[in-house]
Amino acid sequence: MKRIVFLFILLFICLWQFSFIPSASEDELFNKRVFSYINTQHDSLQEELALLNTALKTDKFDEAKNIFLQCRTRYKKTEAFVAYFFPGDAKFINGGVEQEIEDDDEPDFIIYPHGLQVIEKVLYGSDLIAHKQQLINETDSVADLLKRCTVAMQTMNISQRVFFEALQIHLIRLFMVTALNIETPESRNAAVEMISAFKSMKELIYRAYPYEYTGRSMVLRVFVETMESTSAYLSAYPSVDQIDFIKLYSKFYIPLSDQLRTARGNLAEENYQSTTAIDLNATSVFEKSAFNTFFFNPSQTKTGSPERAELGKKLFFDPVLSDNNQRSCASCHHPDKAFTDGLPKSISMDGKNTLTRNAPTLINAAIQGRLFHDARTMNLENQADEVLRNPLEMHHDLSSSLKKLKRSPEYVAYFRDAFMGTADTFINAHSALLAIAEYERTLVSFNSRFDKTIRGEENALSLDEREGFHLFLTKGKCVTCHFLPLFSGTTPPDYKVSDWEVLGTPKVNDRSKPELDPDPGRGGVHKTSLYRHAFKTPGLRNVALTAPYMHNGVFNTLDEVMDFYNAGGGKGWGIDVPNQSLSADSLRLTKEESRKIISFLKSLTDTTGLTSVPASLPTFPRDPEFNERKVGGVY
Ligand code: HEC
Ligand code: HEC
Repeated sequence: MKRIVFLFILLFICLWQFSFIPSASEDELFNKRVFSYINTQHDSLQEELALLNTALKTDKFDEAKNIFLQCRTRYKKTEAFVAYFFPGDAKFINGGVEQEIEDDDEPDFIIYPHGLQVIEKVLYGSDLIAHKQQLINETDSVADLLKRCTVAMQTMNISQRVFFEALQIHLIRLFMVTALNIETPESRNAAVEMISAFKSMKELIYRAYPYEYTGRSMVLRVFVETMESTSAYLSAYPSVDQIDFIKLYSKFYIPLSDQLRTARGNLAEENYQSTTAIDLNATSVFEKSAFNTFFFNPSQTKTGSPERAELGKKLFFDPVLSDNNQRSCASCHHPDKAFTDGLPKSISMDGKNTLTRNAPTLINAAIQGRLFHDARTMNLENQADEVLRNPLEMHHDLSSSLKKLKRSPEYVAYFRDAFMGTADTFINAHSALLAIAEYERTLVSFNSRFDKTIRGEENALSLDEREGFHLFLTKGKCVTCHFLPLFSGTTPPDYKVSDWEVLGTPKVNDRSKPELDPDPGRGGVHKTSLYRHAFKTPGLRNVALTAPYMHNGVFNTLDEVMDFYNAGGGKGWGIDVPNQSLSADSLRLTKEESRKIISFLKSLTDTTGLTSVPASLPTFPRDPEFNERKVGGVY
């Protein structure tokens, strides 16, 4: 009997002990499943890179090309996570082919491009024997970086939310970059890479959510089916250039994007707040709500309110902010011209001379990591400060403007209401700039005929416009700099940075006397030859309303712009532009094709709800002469 009791006690102790050994939680198992997939792919990629290395060393360049394509297809399988966790390293595994300069570093600290895109460029170029060592070095460096990322990743936690965020961003990458051959300009292998990326996304989802796992929801199944039909659609065309991109976006990308975001909501986090530049709660990047404009403000947090924007609007149209009470922001940014002024260069304060540059549109200006043609400013708040101080523009230091504003009881009340509960309830520089910026952040437009068509709401594009869009994406190569959906240098997939480029924009529109415009552009901010005459890539939405064109307003019409591009930019004109980033080859667009691109550009017009002007401005009871001022100012 004693023995039996003893055995029971022993058994009890054992069981009790066991209950303290933690069982792997659902999250840990999820994490493990995803990592086993990533690790397997990275092992295979390392083997393929080693094969590539051998092929290069033995001068088997045709074989090297085939292996290279396999390598990049393999990398696409896990790129979502590598780029999510290690954006810096990802740039050197599969980044752009242009040199860059780290903004915060010394002016001549040049970052040379590395990785798969460089390998492609060289491998598809000429004289491979001469570039053999470079190719081998690049291959080794990709292998090293990948190894580093693989090791570092083991300490990361891929929660279900992170899993979906990474896939959502990857989907944007696939449709806004990969599909358009932006990464693969030489091999033009987009369709194959997309199909393979979908196949691996399916594998990954099935690995992360195995069938027995009750979490595999209906929406994931639908997502996988939509990927399969997208692949079927893509594979029906020998070249991705032949597909109907409007259909690709409206029938495939938008549903996929919507399904993925719904899956995230169902499986990971219901009340998800997106803090990235792109709002991952939006159905797709073609939605009006696709961008978090607050991401680009200095604090990167939501600060706005309708009262603030309303106050900012009054300030924007109020010439009292200027030295002579005659000029407001609207003097050069007219609402009826999509907030430009129709002049090659804006008229300066004296009414006679001009500023050095063309006034850009303010619509969607809030969705940029950089402002001004030379990209010298990071956000709208700093930008407005600079304009107010500029003697040519408004010629006022902010404190004199503020002194004036304080004399209006109406303004005092508006500021109090707009900044209630903050340190800015009294008029000060911070609140004035914040209010103007807040108004500018409301100037967002995503409702052109193009947008309605791509969202499938109406079929509002003519055949010419549709063909023009196709040419814009393919033969015209416009989309390699004017990215979707903003048609600007705001770069997918995360839309954090704004790109600048060197076109060799001429001083006057006269091809018989080709002369480079002397404005150094970005090169005036960063004094390096690499950036000489580089200008921020502007958005093309509302371009029908914003003539004349370019930083110096040199082209009066879109026809003139098209002729310039068709000739290969400044270099194509015969100007010496050693660092031109636009290809100097003719695009060989026919007159008809150029005309179609222009008609497409004109379908990007939408200023609905953005052009209203305040009916009146706050009054100044003690300064009757101020009350004479005109809404929007003169000039
Ligand atoms: C005298 C004409 C003039 C006035 C007045 C003026 N601007 Fe501008 N604005 C310009 C010009 C010209 C540029 C381009 C300057 C450059 O790139 O160096 C510009 C650039 C900008 C940009 C950058 C847009 C982009 O996409 O890079 C913003 C935003 C802007 N202005 C807002 C304002 C606000 C707000 C005010 C009033 C506080 C204002 N402007 C007053 C002419 C003017
Ligand atoms: C290499 C990058 C690049 C490519 C490719 C490119 N652009 Fe541009 N685009 C720019 C830059 C940069 C500017 C501004 C140049 C300046 O201000 O001098 C610009 C300006 C423009 C403007 C003037 C906008 C304005 O408001 O002043 C239009 C229109 C335009 N591009 C259309 C096109 C079209 C159409 C194509 C294809 C045929 C194209 N771009 C291809 C980079 C590019």
